[in-house]
Amino acid sequence: MDSIKEAEKKLAGRKAPEFLKNGMVVGLGSGSTVPYAIERIAELVSQGLQITMVSTSNKTSALAKKCKLEISGIDSIDRIDVTIDGADEVDPNMRGIKGGKGALLFEKIVASISDKNIWIVDSSKLVEKLGKFPLSVEVVPFGLKTVLAEFQRRGFKSEIRVREGEKYLTDSGNYIVDLHLGSIENPEELDVELNMIPGVVENGLFVGYADMVIVGRGKETEITSR
Ligand code: 5RP
Repeated sequence: MDSIKEAEKKLAGRKAPEFLKNGMVVGLGSGSTVPYAIERIAELVSQGLQITMVSTSNKTSALAKKCKLEISGIDSIDRIDVTIDGADEVDPNMRGIKGGKGALLFEKIVASISDKNIWIVDSSKLVEKLGKFPLSVEVVPFGLKTVLAEFQRRGFKSEIRVREGEKYLTDSGNYIVDLHLGSIENPEELDVELNMIPGVVENGLFVGYADMVIVGRGKETEITSR
């Protein structure tokens, strides 16, 4: 099963760079599907494609560097033409949950200034309703207890993300709290509700961002566009 998933990620990841053109500013997402796109971009760049790239995580920047791709600072650009990113869940309205790998804040900033957001996913990511995948919420360390209490008051089952025995730290030095919601009735409302809580920096609901979803399914790719 896992090798099928991996093959589907690879198919979707290698398809997305077909939409890049000379002169574009390109956003590179994070996660385990994006590296397939980065690999393909590196091939295209070595064949003459000229693009400017910005990254959404230290991990992505490191991989790009390894592939001999130059990453520009986010403040050196005004807009992004195309961003290629993964997703944890995508519903039929192209709304998604992201942040499973902890990069949701930079990913949302980059998505918000991108003219076109392309998501690359294996077929297991398509869901009827969002919420089975835990919803990542990035929270500042100061006053974490008050945020957790607020989640509890609202009936959200929460869990601080831990890696190797320590609280997971994002590239911005914040914590991630995963909300186990089961299903999300109104993603638009929840997105606003979460971001209103003092201490919450951003949440992993991406509503109204994706313009195209490339799904790897079996040996094919399926493309849905807005
Ligand atoms: C990282 C993300 C990723 O895009 C998301 O978790 C999908 O990752 P993968 O491609 O490994 O399934 O949001 O914060």
